[in-house]
Amino acid sequence: MTDAGTEEEYAMSTTIELTDGAAATPSRLVGGGEIRCVDLVRIFATDGVEVQALQGLTLTVEPGEIVAVVGASGSGKSTLLTILSGLDTPTGGSAVVAGTDLLTMGHAERVRYQRATVGFVWQQTSRNLLPYLTAAENVRLPLELAGTLPRRERARRVTDLLDLLEVGHAADRRPGEMSGGEQQRTAIAVAIANDPRVLLADEPTGELDEATSVEVLEALRGVNRETGVTTLVVTHDPTVSEHVARTIQIRDGRTSTETLRRTELDEDGAERHVAEEFAVVDRVGRLQLPQDFVQALDLRDRVRLALEPDHVGVWPAAQRPTEEDR
Ligand SMILES: Nc1ncnc2c1ncn2[C@@H]1O[C@H](COP(=O)(O)OP(=O)(O)O)[C@@H](O)[C@H]1O
Ligand SMILES: [Mg+2]
Repeated sequence: MTDAGTEEEYAMSTTIELTDGAAATPSRLVGGGEIRCVDLVRIFATDGVEVQALQGLTLTVEPGEIVAVVGASGSGKSTLLTILSGLDTPTGGSAVVAGTDLLTMGHAERVRYQRATVGFVWQQTSRNLLPYLTAAENVRLPLELAGTLPRRERARRVTDLLDLLEVGHAADRRPGEMSGGEQQRTAIAVAIANDPRVLLADEPTGELDEATSVEVLEALRGVNRETGVTTLVVTHDPTVSEHVARTIQIRDGRTSTETLRRTELDEDGAERHVAEEFAVVDRVGRLQLPQDFVQALDLRDRVRLALEPDHVGVWPAAQRPTEEDR
């Protein structure tokens, strides 16, 4: 800013740094949400090199909701899910799932959390099922470990779960005798066997072809609808937003945009699906500009902002907004 004389005209303008926001103050937990992450940070230090896998990620999933998380490889999706599953502890921020504070839980609580509160489906089909057990035996195993359901009710529960996931025909087959889609649907049955409050799936369709992926995503949606289990599914499949009402995009360890899908009636009364993308603004007002916007205007280091009655304008620092722009 060289011309101080005209500065007053731009009283509403602010210059913000694009590269780094002000450090957020540690957050106080607010109620609501079956999954609630605020300013979640996970730093990995290997050989003296620090990787910030999560850089202040904020995300809320309401009870009974199904939400998809998409993002490029390395954006922090698995790190997030590993934390939510209780297998890893974040470096900072807060994460509360089904009333359990994941940062402060002790060993016994962690074991209970992993056994009863969350169910998990991994990408590798082989990691979800024991190869020497049949589908029915795989589903029965978590019931036996938990021991909450009376023994005589377990067989019925196994049958119901396999039927819900439409793999009843594969009950007596071992994983090696099932298709990839059947294995993942059986894995979902295993994950929800003990009626968890939250179901987490990390790229459950990663090893499957397109048609089978759709089948597994629809199975997750069916389970969410039938049981009301809060579901978070990570996928690199961009078409996932066609299957769920809410898709969250992660970029560089932060939620950047959300796509909401809703059904509308057009003039002729026919149903049509509308998907709309929104940028996510966090508690302290930070947002990420889409990469193509940044490139199109060569936005770098700092930009000018102007508050208007109904919107906020963003300009390259070198360019002053004209009356017409505003
Ligand atoms: N255990 C680990 N040690 C060191 N770096 C890790 C570890 N896990 C993940 N990372 C790094 O954190 C970043 C996010 O990884 P990840 O959560 O696996 O991303 P995604 O699942 O979106 O592909 C990557 O840069 C990755 O290399
Ligand atoms: Mg991953």
